[in-house]
Parts: sequence; C-alpha cells; structure tokens
Amino acid sequence: MSSEKALRWVFFGKGGIGKSTISSAVCCELAARGHKVLRVGCDPKKDSSSGLMGHRPVVTYSELYCAGKVSEDRLIMSNEYGIDCVEAGGPEPGTGCAGRGVSLLLDYLNESGLVRRRGYDSVVYDVLGDVVCGGFAAPMRMGFADRAFIVLGVDLMSMLAANNIAKAVARYSANGVTLGGLIVNRVRKADHAPLALFSSAINSRVIGALPDDPAVVSADFAGEPVPAFSPGAPFTAAVRAAVGRMLALKSCPRPRPMSDAVFAKFKLELAARARAAGRGRAPK
Ligand SMILES: Nc1ncnc2c1ncn2[C@@H]1O[C@H](COP(=O)(O)OP(=O)(O)O)[C@@H](O)[C@H]1O
Ligand SMILES: [Mg+2]
Repeated sequence: MSSEKALRWVFFGKGGIGKSTISSAVCCELAARGHKVLRVGCDPKKDSSSGLMGHRPVVTYSELYCAGKVSEDRLIMSNEYGIDCVEAGGPEPGTGCAGRGVSLLLDYLNESGLVRRRGYDSVVYDVLGDVVCGGFAAPMRMGFADRAFIVLGVDLMSMLAANNIAKAVARYSANGVTLGGLIVNRVRKADHAPLALFSSAINSRVIGALPDDPAVVSADFAGEPVPAFSPGAPFTAAVRAAVGRMLALKSCPRPRPMSDAVFAKFKLELAARARAAGRGRAPK
C-alpha cells in the first residue's frame, strides 16, 4: 500500500500512561493492514522503540548528531515487524533541554525528505509528557502531525495533562493538526461517567478504551509489541478496534480545552460525585 500523503499521527499523554506501549501496538496494526510504517520516538529516555526492537540497543539522533555521524542508515532501525524506528534521544538527565533533541530530529526528517523518498504510508510519533515544553510540541508546532491522540487514564493527573495537551493541539490547529480523540488506557467499568464528563468538557471523544492486561507486562518483559507477543490478548483486540476507528475518522471537532477556572469547577464536580458514591467506592 502506498498513498500520496503519509498518515501522520502523534500520541501524547503523561509519563507512564502507556503511550509507547499503545503507539507500538498501533504501528503493528497499521503494518498488518499493509502500511509501511515509520515510528518516531520523541522521549529523552530513548525507550520508545524498545518494545519494537527486542531490547536491542537503540541509536538516537542526538547521539549521532553529537558525534557528527548522522546518516539515514545509522539512524533508521529496522525490525522483524517491518516497522522502521527512529529515536530522538536527548541530553543526559539533569542537563540541557530534552525538547531540543526532538526539534533537531524533526528538522532532519524534514530536510532529508526521507519520509517521502522511502515511501512511508504512516508516521507515528510517540511524544513524552504533557507538552508544557515547546520542544515536545514540535511535531504539531512544525506542522508534522495531522492527528493527535491523547492517552489518559481516568485520574485527575492524566486529565490535567490531557487538558494541557488539548491546549497545545488547539494552539497549533492552524498548522493542520486535529485532535482525533482520547485513548483511555487501563479502563475499568466504573470509569464511564467521569470519562464522559471529561471528553465532553474538552469537546472530544473516546476513540479507544484499552483494558489493564497482564499480557502487556509480559510483552514488555519479552521486548515485543503486544500484538506480536499475544495476538489474542484483550489489549490487542481493543487496539485493533481502536485503529479501525482511527482510520475511519473523517472530521474531528476542534478541542475546547478547559481554562484553569473551568478545570477547577470540573474537579469540584468530580469531587461531589466521589463523595456521593461513598468512600471506598468508584464515583458514578
Ligand atoms: N493496558 C495495560 N495493561 C497493563 N500494563 C500496561 C498497560 N499499558 C501500559 N502498561 C505498562 O505500563 C508501563 C508504562 O507504559 P509505557 O507505554 O512505557 O508508558 P509511557 O510511554 O506513556 O511512559 C509499562 O511497563 C507497560 O508495560
Ligand atoms: Mg514512553
């Protein structure tokens, strides 16, 4: 399969929420549907590609750049799943600006024209954090992403991060990026009401709901993406269904992120629900 214009998706969400796991699984599903996929890891921890590279050491753009050894052959890591991976990398913890590594890699991808030349159908960005730093917003700021997906759990911290990410998506919508929807990870039955409240508050929708699944942890240890490690796992089935919906998306509403004052009211509403549900029970 080869289309004129590559599909360009970016996954955001707070640290540890499941971005790398989910975006790796999404890459596998896209590859299974015949896409030639480039996965772009944008995290100074350089662990984005780890599950797709079988724990083999990864080379980062930042390392190659510092050593003056940047070349396509050194940068692009191939694997048995037919997915090419590149990692931005970044400075040692506690030094320098991590977002800078992302911007540098994106400049290189732009200038080298490798996405078009190599005929990728899909480019999937996996981006650290909640976009308080302009460097991590680079895929949107530099006009490299068409669709953003926010990974979140049903907890206040990840909703706060998701709201901040929605602010960045709204800010860069002039560059062509839209919010494709929310992907809820480790979802539980009781999560429905707070989730519906959050998604309608920011004018978005839930496009994927993925279960907490022990197969994910085993796949992580095995250094394999979940769909390859466990094709029949509930997590794999849920990712497959989500990718179907993501591919079928036509128009996406412009996100309406909450201001600090509106978010404070939203928290009060959740608090009232939690109290009404009673201590030790999930809010309805
Ligand atoms: N649905 C899930 N079920 C069980 N474990 C999960 C699930 N999603 C993620 N994990 C685990 O959570 C940890 C963090 O996931 P990761 O994808 O690295 O997060 P992020 O990239 O957002 O920092 C990993 O150990 C991963 O195996
Ligand atoms: Mg990650």
